[in-house]
Amino acid sequence: MLHSTFGPARGGSPAHVIVCGNEKGGSGKSTLAMHLAVALLRSGHSVGTVDLDGRQLSLTRYVENRRRWARDNRAQLPVPAHFHVSPAQRERVADAQGIETHQLTDALSALGGCDFIVVDTPGADTYLNRLAHRIADTLVTPMNDSFIDFDVLARIDPATVRVVEPSQYADAVREARRQRRLADNRLLDWIVVRNRMSSITSRNEHKVDACLRQLSMQLGFRLADGVTERVAYRELFALGLTAVDPFELHSPDGRPSRSQLAARAEIESLVTALRLPTDDIGRRRADARRRFAEIVNRPIDLPDIFVR
Ligand SMILES: Nc1ncnc2c1ncn2[C@@H]1O[C@H](COP(=O)(O)OP(=O)(O)OP(=O)(O)O)[C@@H](O)[C@H]1O
Ligand SMILES: [Mg+2]
Repeated sequence: MLHSTFGPARGGSPAHVIVCGNEKGGSGKSTLAMHLAVALLRSGHSVGTVDLDGRQLSLTRYVENRRRWARDNRAQLPVPAHFHVSPAQRERVADAQGIETHQLTDALSALGGCDFIVVDTPGADTYLNRLAHRIADTLVTPMNDSFIDFDVLARIDPATVRVVEPSQYADAVREARRQRRLADNRLLDWIVVRNRMSSITSRNEHKVDACLRQLSMQLGFRLADGVTERVAYRELFALGLTAVDPFELHSPDGRPSRSQLAARAEIESLVTALRLPTDDIGRRRADARRRFAEIVNRPIDLPDIFVR
């Protein structure tokens, strides 16, 4: 079922799709999704967002808060074009999956003119979640900085602190990569980022770091610099603002706190680590794809050779 739905689910969209995924709840997917989306908007890209967590709708609320705040304060704020897809309730599983595939396809088609689409996923193994992993160009997996959360990637031998076997989620990513290669011969770039790191490095954190480095080679992900536990990441949700918005928008005197400055630097460093097609060639390629799609009036995946 998943294999045959790849084409339609992607909606022919030429945009670069970034999926924030981790089956573990509360690891920072929605927070990072919004920060990445706003960072890309602020660097001049057109960005769409899709919330697949129909139960919590955290990213949807974040975007709504941002729209409201901009309206109430008559502020010029870049806001992503946003869609959410909720789990369909049908007696037959296949019917529900068909509806979900359609809804995701429609959302991605509608966002086809964007340079980037950032997709937030639920912290559970659902059909929509698997579909999202199948259409990702870049997968960002935030994980809390502890061995409890490590479990989502691999089982660890507590005595030797060595990896015993990959987890279900790691297997799901491997399968998504395999299907993606079969479908359009594209590679999924997987980046794991430790989140809510303590500013004081402990022995436990060194161990987590060593295990992640070992595992990155086994599972084929890249490890980005971590994101620290900071008030700056959660205090702005209600305003729909982020650490990468101008400080005068949310600091009473326009002067940033140390935490805000550090949070901004961390997000900028994460965007750099993702190695997205944000350079000149990437931008020209995205422009050419968009123009071509407009001319033929349908989204199309143009081979790079035509747009260099
Ligand atoms: N680096 C951080 N520093 C401080 N708070 C953070 C950080 N990252 C996330 N949080 C907070 O942790 C909580 C969980 O984050 P978030 O909702 O982004 O996780 P999630 O992976 O999307 O969760 P779920 O799986 O339930 O959707 C939120 O209250 C968020 O504000
Ligand atoms: Mg979430």
